[in-house]
This record gives sequence, C-alpha cells and structure tokens, in this order.
Amino acid sequence: MTYFIFVLELNLNQKCPSEHYLKQRSFMEESFREDVRIIWRFLSKYKKEFYKIMTIVFLGSLVEAFIPFIYGKIVELIIANATLNLLFLWLFLWLLAQLSFEWTLRYLFVNGGRVTTKCVNDYILLINQHSINLKLSYHNKNKSGKLASRYTKAAGALENLLEGIVFWFGRDILTMLCVLLLIGFFVNWGLLLLLLVYISIFLYLSVRYSKPITDHIMEVNKSYEEAYGTINDSISNVKLVKANSGEKVENEKVSFVLEGRAMEYFEKFWKAARKTFFVQDSAIALMVASSLAMVIFLYRSQSVGVAQIVAFISYLGIMRTPLQRVGEHIGHWRRWMVTIRRGYSLLEEETEDYDTEGKVGLSDVQGAVEFQNVSFAYNETREVLHNINLKVNPGEMVALVGESGVGKSTLVDLISKYIIPTAGKVLLDRVDIQRVSLRDLRDNIAVVPQDVSMFNDTVRNNLVYGKPDATEKEIKSAIQTANAEAFIADFPNGLEEQVGERGVQLSGGQKQRIAIARAVLKNPKVLILDEATSALDSKSEMLVQEAMQRLMQNRTTFVIAHRLSTIIHADRIVVLAKGRIAEQGTHEELLEKRGAYYKLYTLQSLARDKSE
Ligand SMILES: Nc1ncnc2c1ncn2[C@@H]1O[C@H](COP(=O)(O)OP(=O)(O)OP(=O)(O)O)[C@@H](O)[C@H]1O
Ligand SMILES: [Mg+2]
Repeated sequence: MTYFIFVLELNLNQKCPSEHYLKQRSFMEESFREDVRIIWRFLSKYKKEFYKIMTIVFLGSLVEAFIPFIYGKIVELIIANATLNLLFLWLFLWLLAQLSFEWTLRYLFVNGGRVTTKCVNDYILLINQHSINLKLSYHNKNKSGKLASRYTKAAGALENLLEGIVFWFGRDILTMLCVLLLIGFFVNWGLLLLLLVYISIFLYLSVRYSKPITDHIMEVNKSYEEAYGTINDSISNVKLVKANSGEKVENEKVSFVLEGRAMEYFEKFWKAARKTFFVQDSAIALMVASSLAMVIFLYRSQSVGVAQIVAFISYLGIMRTPLQRVGEHIGHWRRWMVTIRRGYSLLEEETEDYDTEGKVGLSDVQGAVEFQNVSFAYNETREVLHNINLKVNPGEMVALVGESGVGKSTLVDLISKYIIPTAGKVLLDRVDIQRVSLRDLRDNIAVVPQDVSMFNDTVRNNLVYGKPDATEKEIKSAIQTANAEAFIADFPNGLEEQVGERGVQLSGGQKQRIAIARAVLKNPKVLILDEATSALDSKSEMLVQEAMQRLMQNRTTFVIAHRLSTIIHADRIVVLAKGRIAEQGTHEELLEKRGAYYKLYTLQSLARDKSE
C-alpha cells in the first residue's frame, strides 16, 4: 500500500518529488501521533473499559461479516432445492447472528457514551483548573469570553471525536477488516487484492484533499472565539454600553467578525470540502463498478458460485457506508483535533508556581515586609517602579500616597506575588517571597482591592470566601468591624441575600464594607487596603476607620488612600512620585519638610475648605 501511495505521489509532484513526499509524510505522521497522544491522555484512564468495549465491538463486527455469507448460503440452498430443515437451520443461524450483532451495537451506544462523557468531564476539569492557575498577566491580556469559548468548543469537539470517530468509526474500521478477511476466505483472493488497491488509493486521496479543510476551519474557530470574547466584554460592561448608547456598535463588532471573517473562511472550507466529497464519491463508484465487473468475469470462468456473488454484493453494501465515511471522518478528525488542540494548548501557557517542593513554608509569620532594589515593568516599553527600597516592620501601618497612576497598586501587588519584580526582591520575614510557597504567602495576606470583586452568590458566601470554616461569632465580629451590620440587617434575607452578578445589587460602599469584613475574617498578618473606604460617606468612613485602627494592631498594614485625612495617623507615610519613593516619614515630619506630601496635603485642605 505504501509503495502504491509513493508511486502516485511521485507522479503528482514533479518538483523534487521524493523530498516533498518525505517532508509531508513525516509532518503528517508526527502530527497524527501527537493527536493520538492527546486523545490517549484522556482515554487511557478508562483503558480497561475501552479495551472491553472494543473487544465486544470486534466480535460484533465479525458476526456482522458472517451475515452476508449466510445470505449467500441460503440462496444457494434454495437454488439447490435443499430440505426445509436445513434451510431453517441456516435461518436460525441468521437470527442468532443478527440479534448478537444488534446487541453489540446497543452495548457500544451505552458504554462508549459513558466513557466519552467521563473523558469530556476530565478534559473540562483539567483545562478549567489550569485556566484558573494561569498568571494574572495572562488573564489581564485575554478576554475571558475568548478563553471560555476556546475550551467549551474544545470539549464539544472532544465529545464528537471520541463518540463519532474513536468508538463508532473504530467499529466501522473493524467491520471493514472483518469483511475484507471474509471476502478473501469465502469469495476470492483476487477480489480482495483489487479492493485493497482501491481502498489504498481512496485513503490516500482522502488524506490529501482534507488538508485545506483544517486550515480554514481553524480560522473559523478563531473568529468565533473573538466574537464570544467581544460578547462577553459588552455584557460585563453593559452599563457603560447603555450609558453611551453603544448597543449598535457592540452588535456591529460581533457581526463584523461573524459575517465577515467567519463566513469568508466557512465558504472556503465548504469549497474545499465539496472537492473532497466529489473525489471520494467518484473513487467509491469506480471501485464498486470494477469489482462487480471482476465478479462477472470470475462467475463466467466458474471461479465463484451464486453463494459467493450474493455474499459479495452484500459485502459491498456493508463496506460502502464505512468507506464513504472514511473521508468524512478524516475531515472531521482534523477539524475537531484543531479545536481540541487549541483548547489543549492552554495547558502550555505558564501558570503560577504552585509547586511547594523546595519552597519555604510559612508558620508564625511576623509580617516584616521589605522591598530591596525593586523595579517593575508591565511591558518592555515602560518601567512603572524604579529601584524601590522600603523596609516595613511587623505591625507597622504604612500609607502609600501619590498621584494617580504612579504605581501604588502595582507596588502592593508585588507583595501578593500577583506580579514579579523585573529586578530586585520582595521579602517577607526576611525570606525572598520567590522562595516561599505561594499558598502560604497568600494565606497570610488579605487585600481589599481598589475594584472589589463579588461572586454571584449570597452575602455570607462572599464573606467567608477566604475562610470557609468561619464560625457565626467570627462572621458577626467581622461584620461589626467593617460597619456592615446595619445594612446587612436591612436586607430581607440578611446574610443569605443574593448580591447579583459581580455584586451589582450592592452599592459601592456596601461592597467595600463586605470586602473589608472578608479581609478581617481571614485574620492575616499582612493587610493591604487599596482605597478601601473611598466609596463611603464621611460618617461611615470614620466608623470603619476606627474599627480598622483596632484591627491593624499586631499586623502589618499597607493603606493606599487619596483622601489624606484618613492616613494622618499612619506610622509612616511613603510618598511615591515618578515610580520612586520621593519621601517618607510621619504626617508631622513630612509637613515640616514642606516637600511633595506638604504640597498634596495643603492642596487637599484648600479644596476641602473651599467646598465647606
Ligand atoms: N495590567 C497592566 N498592564 C499594563 N500596565 C498597567 C497595568 N496595570 C497598571 N498599569 C500601568 O501602571 C501604572 C501604575 O498603575 P497603578 O494601578 O499601580 O497606579 P496607582 O498608583 O494605583 O493609581 P490609582 O491611584 O489611580 O489607583 C499606570 O500607568 C498604569 O497605566
Ligand atoms: Mg491603584
């Protein structure tokens, strides 16, 4: 077969044929081997079930291949005027064979489906776990809808591929092999040889013509990912869209991708597919016609009898559909594998380093935080922080102030290791956090971020997210500290009130107080408050500040605040300017210095006086 393919390829490729052939063949083999490796990664977990199913299916195919032989025998017996007893015996055999074969089909339907579902579940779990573990920088760069679309499509493709190709097409292949074997044994070896030659040509053409299909369908998939990404983006920013009457623009963005690029490649895909179908259909018709011609010739020369002719025609009928589907399935295999690989390639994206091996575990953390010559850049073009040196003692409250965009949030993100310094080190209790187990590090830090996130769940579940085993007493005390008691009590369902998607049913100030309570519950050694009270009215802010003051005792706290009146009691105020520490000291010391802080403070006081 290989020799035949080789000769044909030589004729088709006039330019340096052997080199081209070898290159293409080795690429295909390599890529197919990789495809199988991916599929086997999921299937091998259920290999016992898989082998059992395939063995039963093989026996079913063997029985199916015997059925035409029984037909032939019955026709032969009728022509030969055989006894009724003998005829009934063969009819009984047919009934037995038919029922056993049907049973194996049902068996495959149920059990193949079960293994497929288990594999798809494993795939979704694996990719989902990996996606969550991906670095924040990846999530910041990629639209969340795009990511979700990439792996939901891949899960669908895996389901189709396992069920449609591995199990059902696998069965078709086994049936063809059994049929070919029986043609050799019961009909004629010459006919078998002729069929083998045709099938080889057919397989070669199917592989060759389905290549462009893959490329086009990949582009179609990419377009859909982009469209889902845009849809997700507009739905999560629906308020912004409505505020700016952007509904039409948003829809146009999606339509541009779907009706433009997706359809363009879809048409190309169909053009390539139509060509493939035509080639395959012609090859099959030719095969049937010439093998029938050979049967007639063999009958004339009395090499085969009526029984063999009946069996052979029936065999052709059995083989026709699987053979036709060879090409279809090769196309499908490629199309689905492209999608599966795209989802699977997420596994190649770098995740955060959760490995605890060789890492320092943290126990009895004191909370000393030190930045040693730390610089950081989000991208090569611009460094945000330059050579920061800052030593914070356990239990100290440090306020970070400075203009918007100067790098305050970036600086505290380095402590949680959401981002990693491009130069220098961050130390916790004198250990470089690069060497500390990520889980231990984050377990000791609580952050109330600038943009509070909420799950679409109850107030209670949002509160206990960092500490699922919190007692009622702890929850109550955290709520009191965050001055959230009154508004939660006002909710019809109290702590069980649903907060809506991203907490839309809560006010900005309520969200902040729940986030503060969440941080309090976690009872961390390092507390980071990034504009944590910016959305509160002055009275609530004062109450929360008072409670926070108590909370800050015995833990290192970083407070970022634009309203300087809220941080004048800080042990130390660090002023950032142009990505560097411009000055630091207590409120009084900095006022005396009459530097950057003095300017900021007097500006704010002036503004306040004016508004009063
Ligand atoms: N994920 C990101 N990718 C690229 N650049 C970023 C990213 N996040 C922030 N930046 C840039 O880094 C700089 C510092 O941002 P940062 O959020 O630390 O400022 P900030 O001092 O907290 O400001 P604000 O007071 O407004 O919150 C900004 O110029 C911003 O544009
Ligand atoms: Mg910020």
